[in-house]
Amino acid sequence: MEFSLTTEQREVQALARVFADGEIAPHAAAWDRDHSFPRAVFTKLGELGLMGVCVPEELGGAGADFLSYILVLEELSRADAGVGVTVAVHTSAVTLPIIAFGTPAQRERFVPELAAGRVLGAFALTESGSGSDAGSLRTAATPDGDGWTIAGAKQWITNGSHAGTFLVFARTDAAVDGPRGVSAFVVDGSDIEVTREEEKLGLNSSSTADLRIADVFVGRDTLLHEAGHRFAVAMATLDGGRIGIAAQAVGIAQAAYDVALRYAKEREQFGSRIADFQAIQFKLADMATEIEAARLLTYRAAWLKQQGLPHTLAGAQAKLFASAVARRQTGEAIQVLGGYGYTKEFPVERYYRDAKITEIYEGTSEIQRIVIARHILAEQTDRTPASAPPASG
Ligand code: CAA
Repeated sequence: MEFSLTTEQREVQALARVFADGEIAPHAAAWDRDHSFPRAVFTKLGELGLMGVCVPEELGGAGADFLSYILVLEELSRADAGVGVTVAVHTSAVTLPIIAFGTPAQRERFVPELAAGRVLGAFALTESGSGSDAGSLRTAATPDGDGWTIAGAKQWITNGSHAGTFLVFARTDAAVDGPRGVSAFVVDGSDIEVTREEEKLGLNSSSTADLRIADVFVGRDTLLHEAGHRFAVAMATLDGGRIGIAAQAVGIAQAAYDVALRYAKEREQFGSRIADFQAIQFKLADMATEIEAARLLTYRAAWLKQQGLPHTLAGAQAKLFASAVARRQTGEAIQVLGGYGYTKEFPVERYYRDAKITEIYEGTSEIQRIVIARHILAEQTDRTPASAPPASG
């Protein structure tokens, strides 16, 4: 067992940290207040190689390992969780599945642009009637000459208003209900209409959009892998994506802890620093311990994935635990700051609002428990290695 990061992992982490501290954190409050999507940041991240950290170099990426990518998500999310989720969905839910499941032509066409950050990716699975029960989606892809006609609507799509490449899940077999009739397509942004940008509790610097795909013809070469039975693409993608959301949760919790610790050492009441009071010390001790436990679960899941080992269970456990830590400990950080914590003068109220979503998207905590329970009860074997991305991804 080896707990230290490699030199390369530390370098990637430092690169992301310096960028996050210098170019993201100082603007995060304004982006949150104005609900503005910082598109230019993703161009700069692309120039640094951070929009395709774990994408192989021959496809235009930085060629680092999956854990390096997870370290980047943690650092970005520490500064701004909206930036974190934008990069997470772009990479885990679009670029990596195209590498893992796409044809050579699809890889060459889409991945270099995504890895450079010139194009953003979006993962269009969820619909108004199919959230946790993702396999019941209704968007239809009907065979049409030398391709398909896709018709349907998608909801809550991260990056929806800014993406140029969409992974769209549609039912290719109308006769089959449930996950078995679903296939994945790589669709150009020009074929997709944004019908609404969502108002949210937090993550205001990220885009969450509703989409319409109105009888759009797409060629046969847009199908990712063969038709039908490709709901597994969605599931395997989410196996990796959930590790990214766990890293996002760790980053948010760490940011809240950092503010609480600094404040506790400066704030004086009853003639002493509040850090001298055991009530505050216990909060800080719990925060430090829980965040470290969440981080270790997350890094372990990432390590399993990059070794090509089963990681469905480990990823679900990491996301379940880290998201609960983020929600709980951002609340505790507000408590340490008292009245100041409830105001916009400090960022902890933003962390608290941002943390909540980590218990919901990429599978709610209840869905993570279902995944974990199925493994514990051995009703489902972990099948991720067979579909793990090749090489460094
Ligand atoms: N890897 C590969 N294949 C898998 C798999 C995995 N981890 N898990 C299941 N599968 C396969 C199954 O073997 C089955 O394939 P066959 O039909 O060929 O046998 C198929 O997928 C269907 O599996 P289930 O029978 O287990 O399906 P289910 O209907 O019981 O649903 C579920 C399982 C776990 C509840 C699933 O629907 C789920 O994860 N729901 C949550 C959806 C979700 O996470 N949405 C996130 C939206 S994206 C997002 O949030 C991005 C963002 O913005 C941040």
